[in-house]
Amino acid sequence: MTDYKKELAVAIEAAEKAGKYLVENSDRISISDYKGSTHDYATEQDLQSQFSILKTIKDAFPEAKFLTEENTEEVDTNDTLWIVDPIDGTRMFAHGIYFYSISIALWDKGEVKAGVVYAPQYGKNMYTAIKGGGAFVNDSKIVTSNKHDSLAQSLVATAFPYERDMVDATMERMKLLIHRCEDIVRLGSCALENVIVAEGGLGSYMERGPKVWDIAAAKLIIEETGGLCTNFDGTPLDIFGKKNGKYYLEFVSSKNRQIHEEVIELLSSLT
Ligand code: IPD
Ligand code: CA
Ligand code: CA
Repeated sequence: MTDYKKELAVAIEAAEKAGKYLVENSDRISISDYKGSTHDYATEQDLQSQFSILKTIKDAFPEAKFLTEENTEEVDTNDTLWIVDPIDGTRMFAHGIYFYSISIALWDKGEVKAGVVYAPQYGKNMYTAIKGGGAFVNDSKIVTSNKHDSLAQSLVATAFPYERDMVDATMERMKLLIHRCEDIVRLGSCALENVIVAEGGLGSYMERGPKVWDIAAAKLIIEETGGLCTNFDGTPLDIFGKKNGKYYLEFVSSKNRQIHEEVIELLSSLT
């Protein structure tokens, strides 16, 4: 039976190599693909980063199967899958703001068993977890900060949907939230924001519309530190959730149960 240590080591190597490429190529951005809206695009670096990650993984595991953002294909979730977001926070990267990350998760036997979120230019932090083994940032075990324990003392991160006709619902949520938390921030990399929830810097994160590759690795890292990730109504999350045939989640995470319950109660008053 595998302990997923080799898989984690390969994911770390893949993230480091792709991160090095991104750091070296962060000043030569060209947009190569608009994904149905002018707000959602991929750069040449997204494609090259993905190519590099897949190569590293295939060199170690020639039979590997993938679910990747830049080449989405139908997958069988009974398979073992590497779930890859080669740049999470493309918009930030494209604007020269270094709050972006690389996310790699290994799905096996119905669960994410290992996950890596790497921020090559934001503290060079490598966040990792193996199911049941705790979560780490670089070589240190993550012990979630107990400071700012309630929602009232917490920063909450969120995002604006690419589909601008859905912005009103986000604003309604923010109007309610702003009176209940310390402040609301929008940082631009769902995976990176969620590992910051795991560390305790953010109390909570909520977004209508992230996809499996945005949250697969970070969800494991949060849960390994005792945090929670659910649907907006508090029910368990199917990370492969879809809407109109496309990956889509109504995702909320918190660093502890107290904050999560407050947030879910608040969200349920809107639906
Ligand atoms: C996006 C970012 C963004 C979040 C979106 C994601 P991308 O990922 O994480 O912060 O709001 O839902 O799709 O497109 O930069 O990989
Ligand atoms: Ca993403
Ligand atoms: Ca991406």
